[in-house]
Amino acid sequence: MKTAIYPGSFDPTTNGHTDIITRASRFVDRLVVGVLENPSKTPVFSTEERVNQLKELTKDMPGVEVRSFSGLTVDFARSLGADLIIRGLRAVTDFEYEFQMALTNRNLADEIETLFIPTSAHCLYLSSSMVKEIALFGGNIDDKVPPIIKEALMDKYKNRRTK
Ligand code: PNS
Repeated sequence: MKTAIYPGSFDPTTNGHTDIITRASRFVDRLVVGVLENPSKTPVFSTEERVNQLKELTKDMPGVEVRSFSGLTVDFARSLGADLIIRGLRAVTDFEYEFQMALTNRNLADEIETLFIPTSAHCLYLSSSMVKEIALFGGNIDDKVPPIIKEALMDKYKNRRTK
């Protein structure tokens, strides 16, 4: 059985993330989406909120599970018996960071491979941080995030909007 993990912050999940999850889930038996619990960051959504959002978004995808993790990604992969880390690649600007991360993970655990999936064209310049900024200022994010994420963001920002 081929198990892969798809780790990330998912703060929040965008259409780019769901695109990668859908496509990655087609060529592994089990895809575990790992939501990083990072004590050094202050996310907009709590770990529990992000996990629940992803569970809702993937509930009809066979073989997809969602879990939170802390610590090293390779330890999370090992704990699940996964030997594949999935990462989405957008524009060339992602490359340096992703390459560094892949090589670091390989150095830490050489039995685990990183597999990059090129983003779909409509998600090329889509990022969670951009989505948050647009939502904060009341812009339209309909084509960038699933409806439940849009609703959750509007709810978070309703008292914080500056305009
Ligand atoms: O969605 P993101 O923020 O680009 O995901 C980054 C993530 C969670 C994959 C990365 O920060 C990570 O793997 N963090 C866990 C700590 C770790 O394993 N560090 C060593 C590899 S760089």
